[in-house]
Amino acid sequence: MSDSQTYTPSPEFTSRAHVKGMDEYRELYQQALREGENFWAPLAEKELTWFKPFARALEWDPPSAKWFSGGRINACYNCLDRHLLTERRTKPALIWEGEPGDSRVYTYEDLHLAVCRFATVLKDLGFKSHDRAIIYMPMVPELAIAVLACARLGIIHSVVFGGFSAEALRTRTQDLNAELVITADGGWRRGKEIRLKDAVDQALEECPLVRQVIVYQRTGSALNMTPDRDVWWHERDERLSTSRPTEVAAENCAAQDLDSEHPLFVLYTSGTTGKPKGILHTTAGYLLQTTLSMRWVFDLREDDIYWCTADIGWVTGHSYVVYGPLSAGATTVMYEGAPDFPAFDRWWQIVAKHKVSIFYTSPTAIRSLVRQGEQWPNAHDLSSLRLLGSVGEPINPAAWEWYYRVIGKERCPIVDTWWQTETGGIMIAPMPGAIPLKPGSATLPLPGIEADIVDSRGEQITQPNREGFLIIRRPWPGMARTIWGDPRRYEEQYWSRVPDAYFTGDAARRDADGYFWILGRVDDVMNVSGHRLSTMEVESALVHHPAVAEAAVVAKPHDVTGQAVCCFVTLKAGDWDHGKLSTELRQWVAREIGPFARPEEVRFTDALPKTRSGKIMRRLLREIVTTNAVTGDTTTLEDITVLSRLSTVHEED
Ligand code: PRX
Repeated sequence: MSDSQTYTPSPEFTSRAHVKGMDEYRELYQQALREGENFWAPLAEKELTWFKPFARALEWDPPSAKWFSGGRINACYNCLDRHLLTERRTKPALIWEGEPGDSRVYTYEDLHLAVCRFATVLKDLGFKSHDRAIIYMPMVPELAIAVLACARLGIIHSVVFGGFSAEALRTRTQDLNAELVITADGGWRRGKEIRLKDAVDQALEECPLVRQVIVYQRTGSALNMTPDRDVWWHERDERLSTSRPTEVAAENCAAQDLDSEHPLFVLYTSGTTGKPKGILHTTAGYLLQTTLSMRWVFDLREDDIYWCTADIGWVTGHSYVVYGPLSAGATTVMYEGAPDFPAFDRWWQIVAKHKVSIFYTSPTAIRSLVRQGEQWPNAHDLSSLRLLGSVGEPINPAAWEWYYRVIGKERCPIVDTWWQTETGGIMIAPMPGAIPLKPGSATLPLPGIEADIVDSRGEQITQPNREGFLIIRRPWPGMARTIWGDPRRYEEQYWSRVPDAYFTGDAARRDADGYFWILGRVDDVMNVSGHRLSTMEVESALVHHPAVAEAAVVAKPHDVTGQAVCCFVTLKAGDWDHGKLSTELRQWVAREIGPFARPEEVRFTDALPKTRSGKIMRRLLREIVTTNAVTGDTTTLEDITVLSRLSTVHEED
């Protein structure tokens, strides 16, 4: 609410910040509005290192955008090589903590060498610009190295989160027409091995295009290596060292000179259908947006130790563990495992050990730590922290206050950052030295981002606090360029709902001070622990089970994960043990999609509420799980009696 408590940045923070005060923010925002795409041109010249300057800021033929056309650039060069010419050469680029307690530090020089070596391995295996690689790895430095080596050669990478199942890996590998998979034997999570190579073997049974699998050895457990197809990362790397000329070449493996619009990566995300969308990001615009936001939002300084806890398998990890921080010359921290292993203070121990100054995580993580009590963070010296961040879902004021008080000791501003896989970088968030904070609001859009709220007819909503659709009125450099292999879907979903505007799929309201309050998705996309998950994806997993006739899935509010998956299921004829089947179906979904998608609840019913045209009335189901009551108009129900027959079977893990 507009009158909720505000937190004004301290004069001390503001005096050292990149953007000092509201006037400076407003001036920058107005300048961007006035100058349109030309606002970005001097920023792109200054923030990025080009092999050849671009000719034009933007060629816009809606919905097709070409940013910085004519320019030649390489993302990996910007993340590594250019820093080697400065004092950053010996600065830590990557600090890594493994879950079992192993740790590694790479300076910019070390990381550059490791990336050049792996890029040489890729080149020697015959991979080149425009080829496509799936990367399915735990959170080890080699994941970042693989990403950067692909970028160095112009290989289009698609990182699949290590928590996804073999089935999810298969569909993504097929959709991308990938020829290469980079993986590991496994990774550590809560002391257990998450076996990745087994899932790769299973997925690749139906991916004939994949000709090579490179396996990094992390856990050392036994696995099958398919002759000709599978090679060990370390063996290939050792081979480079045995022949002197190749070693010299490896250390200097040149970054490819690529077009500004060269496809950098495809990242799959859930949409409203059962089929995930391959969101394509290209090079220069994406890099500019992520680099700039390191300064604008995280207020990055040369001596910061910056830690974003996201897995690189999600967009937050792409933009704010790898590309943004490294391009901006930061020290980025990466942790392999679970926040509660071996105990609930693992994160705070890492913060204290490495003197982390900027810490960026999700509301779900904060809420789960709130539950464990203040004694865990209080046992560690968190005085190095100066800025906190939140991403992925709305943060409730209670969690915000706890984060502010217990972790930030009422000293650290909290940047609540709203953005999406499709936006590439942060869109609405406070510039922390300028914008007073309100718990639960992502505050104001960044310069160059013309966010607005419209009603269902596309008319602008000007009254404060009236809910509507969040849209972005003009293109921005970090925007997705298309959906891989499906440009029509890209146009329909994002650029046809409101004329000349990008449709975010989120509902929001703006308060009397112009602050944005994000209210959640308006489509059939759920947000579980800050991860996007489509109701249709879970439904199609359920109907693959031999016992299931029909399924309808809705999100249910959840104290820790924000939303949880709730399934309504009708069964085929048979004598089913509902208790057992409920457990089995929840495991089934976890296996089909990934453990993070495991339903919280399965309810069995004789029939699902449907309209006369046969469409499932999810609205009613949502009401049932939210309030346990049904209100509103139910006259379109095909069989109203089904509502009273919905019964609950719910089992905890
Ligand atoms: O609903 C919004 C929510 O997460 C969605 C984007 O999910 P994804 O593409 O997976 O990217 C997550 C990380 C950027 C959005 O449509 N969301 C993201 N950040 C916030 C948020 N909701 C409220 N507040 C946020 N700060």
